[in-house]
Amino acid sequence: MSRKLEPGRLVAATHNKGKVVELKDLFEPLGFEVVSADQLQLDEPDETELTFEGNALIKARAAAQATGAPALSDDSGLEVTALGGMPGVHTAIWAGEPRDFYKAMEKVERELQAIDAKDRSAKFVSCLAVAWPDGHEMTFRGEILGDLTWPPRGEMGFGYDPVFVPLGHEVTFAELKPAQKHAMSHRAVAFEKLKAALL
Ligand code: IMP
Repeated sequence: MSRKLEPGRLVAATHNKGKVVELKDLFEPLGFEVVSADQLQLDEPDETELTFEGNALIKARAAAQATGAPALSDDSGLEVTALGGMPGVHTAIWAGEPRDFYKAMEKVERELQAIDAKDRSAKFVSCLAVAWPDGHEMTFRGEILGDLTWPPRGEMGFGYDPVFVPLGHEVTFAELKPAQKHAMSHRAVAFEKLKAALL
């Protein structure tokens, strides 16, 4: 059954500061007050599913139950073709603890060099999930294709942005202004689907 998301408080069920910034940029112009899981000191649930959709739902459900407000989460990652779709749902984990995304990008590069990969194509995937406190929930998936470059370039964005060159472009996501990235990113594609269904 479809349902609309009424403007008001929306909990961003993530502790990732880069994602919070991007979710605020997307939702605040539409009249939502985006409050992060970090600000509300919510626990981070374990991401035990093998799909982006499954993990996004775990995070959104937990935040909706804990706060009594609708919650939005993003589960996302990088799928590298020559690595059989890895790191995929393990994208954050490849950065170790504490997170070090330079190391994570280096690990991807090492794995590509180890198999002498000619194919450097990859895609970013984002799955947005919305969960309401009464148990209703929906997911939306967006993807963007590109190629991996080495060494990393650019200072903007977050995560693996400095090695990802979106298809049809010469620059990495980290060399694009936020507004340019937001106009084409996997998260933006998922967001457009969410908007069409829920707003
Ligand atoms: P998770 O969704 O919290 O499991 O983490 C996904 C990981 O994918 C993040 O920590 C980032 O490293 C990476 N990722 C997701 N979206 C982006 C993006 O837009 N740019 C760069 N890295 C991203």
